[in-house]
Amino acid sequence: MKVLIFGGSGGIGHSLCTQLLSHQPEIDLHATYHSHKPNDLGSGLTWHNIDITAEDDISKLAAQFSSLDWIINAIGLLHTPSNGPEKNLQSCQSEFFLENIKVNALPTLLIAKHFSACLKASSHPRFVTISAKVGSIEDNRLGGWYSYRSSKAALNMLIKNISIEWSRRIPKACILSIHPGTTDTPLSKPFQANVPDGKLFEPDKVASDILHIIEKANPEITGSFLSYDGQRLPW
Ligand SMILES: NC(=O)c1ccc[n+]([C@@H]2O[C@H](COP(=O)([O-])OP(=O)(O)OC[C@H]3O[C@@H](n4cnc5c(N)ncnc54)[C@H](OP(=O)(O)O)[C@@H]3O)[C@@H](O)[C@H]2O)c1
Repeated sequence: MKVLIFGGSGGIGHSLCTQLLSHQPEIDLHATYHSHKPNDLGSGLTWHNIDITAEDDISKLAAQFSSLDWIINAIGLLHTPSNGPEKNLQSCQSEFFLENIKVNALPTLLIAKHFSACLKASSHPRFVTISAKVGSIEDNRLGGWYSYRSSKAALNMLIKNISIEWSRRIPKACILSIHPGTTDTPLSKPFQANVPDGKLFEPDKVASDILHIIEKANPEITGSFLSYDGQRLPW
């Protein structure tokens, strides 16, 4: 089996790599990093450096593959050294809003565009992007976090849209949007104080949940927005 993890250097992406390597010794595993390359996973996988906001990087990476069975996009952005999720309208800044769109939403569209042919060549293609429940419009009761929420809502629409096109062009494919739950990674670190007891998950547990969903996935559920426990979430 041939798998590509976007964001293998991140908290969730790294655990996905670790588990795939330990559970599937025969796997041909590829993963991307941006600013730091993990050096603790040995020679069992191939690393690719990529800036996911550059379409050229994505198309050049796609050109290196003739087929892929699974693609998991675990890249994401919630805060930068100078900006974080907004508490109110006055703290919203166009640059940060666009950065969220460029890292959290647009890459899934571009990955689908450039990797369609690779996935079509597989007998059981799966494409999963890690979304977030705060991107659910129906579930939004607290407000705030304008940029992140909007980017994940846009991501969810992209996944639904791609699933409709692929149901005609790649009917074997299953594309999913998965909410991982609040996970102990650099992305959530500044926002963990109010997480209820037992609701801050270890990346290994989350990776195992996500892989379980992908293993069971089939074209009948393509285009779904699922929680880590497999439950459907409202759009
Ligand atoms: N952690 C949570 O509680 C939580 C909750 C809900 C949803 N999620 C979602 O889960 C996904 C994974 O999050 P995480 O918690 O694992 O985050 P993380 O530990 O901060 O990892 C983020 C990953 O994104 C990569 N990345 C960021 N900007 C990039 C760029 N321009 N080009 C290429 N790669 C880039 C990073 O690469 P480098 O490190 O190499 O720069 C890293 O691999 C995200 O989509 C996030 O929104 C997380």
